[in-house]
Amino acid sequence: MSADIIDGKAFAATLRARVAGLARAFEDAAGRKAGLAVVLVGEDPASQVYVRSKGKQTIEAGMASFEHRFPAETAEADLLALVESLNVDSAVDGILVQLPLPAHMDEQKVISAISPDKDVDGFHVINAGRLAVGQPGFVPCTPLGCLMLLKDKLGSLSGLNAVIIGRSNIVGKPMAQLLLGESCTVTIAHSRTRDMPEVVRRADIVVAAVGRAEMVKADWLKPGACVIDVGINRVAAAEEGKTRLVGDVDFAGALDVAGSITPVPGGVGPMTIAVLLRNALVAAYRNAGLQLADGAI
Ligand code: GUN
Repeated sequence: MSADIIDGKAFAATLRARVAGLARAFEDAAGRKAGLAVVLVGEDPASQVYVRSKGKQTIEAGMASFEHRFPAETAEADLLALVESLNVDSAVDGILVQLPLPAHMDEQKVISAISPDKDVDGFHVINAGRLAVGQPGFVPCTPLGCLMLLKDKLGSLSGLNAVIIGRSNIVGKPMAQLLLGESCTVTIAHSRTRDMPEVVRRADIVVAAVGRAEMVKADWLKPGACVIDVGINRVAAAEEGKTRLVGDVDFAGALDVAGSITPVPGGVGPMTIAVLLRNALVAAYRNAGLQLADGAI
């Protein structure tokens, strides 16, 4: 048996095209473009790549991109002042402050300063609370992208056993809420979980989000399981001095057991920015008081 490969890259391209169509409709109706502000503090190389990519894809989707860069030694008060000004800027529908922030800044304080109605990352406690009680709000991009791939592959998730490995605020916890909302039986496994292989073996759906290269082995999987690999880990390649990206799952081994699986790269990764654009567009419609048809996106 060889698992179906879930093509996140293709799904993300389709989602971006849908967002672009709706962004044009928004501009016609509102008389302005939907706007996304991205804030980067410091020179973290990975963050710089992400932020550049977010800006480029925002413009390609027909939205306005506002980029704000600060040196690493910026005072927290200056960052908070920028966030406050973006909160009241009517051209800005969504605000994303790229994480991690430099060590002298309090990330929770900065996230809390973002207006919940512009919090397209879904990191504000108000949005975490809305998700927990099933109210409309913003859902973090990576788990929402995972859910879209799961529903596309499996249809109804009702009654399925889902095991999420990892309990972060950005992926594991919101993923659990989303899957509970789809009537899955949800388990969150983490570093203190006893007999992780046995727990994972019960899963019809596995979402691996721990950041440990190829930690999940093929013999942990229930035959036919749908495996969503959120990990992006850089490891040494066979060729001297080269590196390659791998996920949290032993992909080659899992191919023989799983029913379907996301590759790394090309699985969950491309979904994150596509969902961010989707969230920014939803924010624009809401902020402008315009109706977005149910299920339009
Ligand atoms: N750093 C890594 N991923 C993310 C993300 O999804 N949002 C923000 N704000 N920072 C990140």
